[in-house]
Amino acid sequence: MSFDLVEGGGPARTASGPVIEADDLRVWYAGPTGPVKAVDGVTFSLRPGEILGLVGESGCGKSTLGRGLLGLLPDGAARDGALRFRGDDMLTLRRKEQYQLRGSQLGMIFQEPLTRLNPLMRISDHFSETLKTHEKGLSKREIEERSLEALRVMGIPPTRFKAYPHEFSGGMRQRLMIALALVLRPAFVVADEPTTALDVLVEAQIIRILHDLRETYETSLLLITHNLGIVAEACDRVAVMYAGKIVEIGPAREVFANPQHSYTRELLRSTISLSTTGLNFIDGAPPDLSDPPSGCHFHPRCPDAMAVCATRDPVDRELPAGTRVACWASDLRHGTVTLSESERAPLQKEEIALADEA
Ligand SMILES: Nc1ncnc2c1ncn2[C@@H]1O[C@H](COP(=O)(O)OP(=O)(O)O)[C@@H](O)[C@H]1O
Ligand code: SF4
Ligand SMILES: [Mg+2]
Repeated sequence: MSFDLVEGGGPARTASGPVIEADDLRVWYAGPTGPVKAVDGVTFSLRPGEILGLVGESGCGKSTLGRGLLGLLPDGAARDGALRFRGDDMLTLRRKEQYQLRGSQLGMIFQEPLTRLNPLMRISDHFSETLKTHEKGLSKREIEERSLEALRVMGIPPTRFKAYPHEFSGGMRQRLMIALALVLRPAFVVADEPTTALDVLVEAQIIRILHDLRETYETSLLLITHNLGIVAEACDRVAVMYAGKIVEIGPAREVFANPQHSYTRELLRSTISLSTTGLNFIDGAPPDLSDPPSGCHFHPRCPDAMAVCATRDPVDRELPAGTRVACWASDLRHGTVTLSESERAPLQKEEIALADEA
């Protein structure tokens, strides 16, 4: 599939340097018993046009990370660390500047499309409102051209331009939301589980379109999803999040073929068994982020846990295959650390029954 581009209008593209860089980024909410550390020291960057999948169980901080990157956090949430968009420090920018930047160059595709579309407004009005807000001085004709182009790219016929949101199917509405996000030609988009409510066919279609779009617009995408198949198919890299941290990040192919962090392994195992043999969830649940376990946050659930895992935080290591992982067992396998015999001893866990013994 290929797309013709309408020239002009969008923000200028700079080919060099990362689009977004997070360095030890932290986001927390005020909780009744202290701060809920939903994002707890996340470091990564995205190149122009790159698609990064973000996976992990519910409650691990994926949405908070996505929103934190865009400055779309609710009142009472706080951020710390470093966050740069095309080299600009986003954490010290004032609210107004951040909004202006966000409006045209940063985009978010939400989970429930219908609630984000005004039922009383035609599709054409949604587009013109979006464009008028963020790109002053566009003529009526330019607005229509840009809108129809975005619709066309998303496979929505121009005859639907004057329709109302309720006249579209769920899949079409999701594509509309994406078209609305992309009409501004943003440099960076967060899509938070955009396909959860869709059937498999529409899902595959949307993923293909997303994939093609980065070729066309050079948009970088953070794709939050439960669907590991989509990540394998559409993403360049994948980041695995557990209890507020990215525990493993690397080329999608490599991470799926050779997962290094025990959480990644368990996550893949549970997903694979969902589509093949019986159900096989990871035993237990992610921790309360106002009081996570010591050491590696996964240690109470980890089948590979050693004594060291409960006391010392695992350290981020770069592996030759291009992945970065924070796991003591991975360290041992790769000889990147020397542990004493007592540190290497299997962690004594009383209540945790190992799933694969059943
Ligand atoms: N608005 C909020 N106020 C307080 N806590 C929140 C808020 N949103 C999310 N959290 C908490 O932050 C943690 C991470 O949530 P979230 O980012 O939604 O994870 P995920 O998207 O991976 O399911 C959870 O413990 C959740 O309860
Ligand atoms: S650091 Fe230890 S507890 Fe954590 S995932 Fe690795 S082996 Fe398991
Ligand atoms: Mg979420």
